[in-house]
Amino acid sequence: MAESITIKKPFDSHLHVRQGAMLRAVTPISAAKFAGALIMPNTEPPIETVEQAAAYKKEVLAAVPGEITFEPLMSLYLTKNLKPSEIEKGFAGENGMKVFAVKSYPYGATTNSQWGYRSILEAQDVLKKMEEIGMPLLLHGEVHLNDHDEEEDPYDAERMFIADVLPRLLETYPKLKVSLEHMSSAEAIDFMEKNGEAGKLVTTVTPHHLMYDRRHAFSGGYRALLHCKPLIKTAHDRERLRYMVKKGLPFVSAGTDSAPHPEAKKFSSCCAFGVFNAPVALEMYAQVFDEIGALDKLEAFLSLNGPQFFGVEPSTETITLLKKDWQVTEPVVTEEDIKVWSVGDAKHGLGNEMLHWQVQQ
Ligand code: DOR
Ligand code: ZN
Repeated sequence: MAESITIKKPFDSHLHVRQGAMLRAVTPISAAKFAGALIMPNTEPPIETVEQAAAYKKEVLAAVPGEITFEPLMSLYLTKNLKPSEIEKGFAGENGMKVFAVKSYPYGATTNSQWGYRSILEAQDVLKKMEEIGMPLLLHGEVHLNDHDEEEDPYDAERMFIADVLPRLLETYPKLKVSLEHMSSAEAIDFMEKNGEAGKLVTTVTPHHLMYDRRHAFSGGYRALLHCKPLIKTAHDRERLRYMVKKGLPFVSAGTDSAPHPEAKKFSSCCAFGVFNAPVALEMYAQVFDEIGALDKLEAFLSLNGPQFFGVEPSTETITLLKKDWQVTEPVVTEEDIKVWSVGDAKHGLGNEMLHWQVQQ
């Protein structure tokens, strides 16, 4: 049995770092273990121009410790203000500022999704332009509101998107490059196993959807640290997800969806959507791949498939993980003294979530 594994430094295909003090607290944590990341644009205000993306990139890079190389790939938020010309400008990388993707959030579904379209299919001009130039579309693939503006059952939201919206999108824009983010349901997995194709239709997987299911989310009351969109699903969904990553498919990559929220928002009566996993994400992935006997597939999933989709080189650095037990016991604390609790934390997690892999210091 492997006691250690050395792989190229990973790439996080889906990361939230926020802004200001929060960004400065969480960015170094991801930068220590990942060579780069696709940075999500659901900030306040949203990133909807190349100029904003450039300023945001600068803010991220300023938070990376000097001795570390970390490449943030920037994205634009598909708001109703996002113009096709802005997408074209960003994709061309004018003045050295390249934008690598456009992210779509369904209106109202999750954190800062109030600027999104209700359905991605409404964004015709933008989609046409993206298809024409080859700009990747990153999908939060859930149907949140129906035609009468009523909220759908959140446990059905991804399934509905897969059954209805995604096929229509792919049919209307056959050349569009699409990533279905944070896959969580058996239906999404079936669809991707059938239709996925490297460079064309890809998907990302979070550590929390691989590690947890509804039994954990409802263990002793609803667990705020596991509250996210898409919701943590059933044991069956999780098994299917594990079985899919075990296959080592070239269109499946790691996207942590690490999404920090201040303690006051996370533990309020209506806990904020988002699992903060940056301190443990890599270790969680290694643990799951070890459990399913797929450590030989870990490097492609973590370090090669993501960069390939975005057209960047994998890292030339390596990272070593050791089989060693540990647990997160402290929150991340921002310079404004705000606590951010990681999934798996000894106090606010499920109680005894020992991690079995550790990054070699
Ligand atoms: O749980 C989530 N949190 N899902 C998302 O799509 C957004 C994210 C966030 O930004 O907090
Ligand atoms: Zn996200």
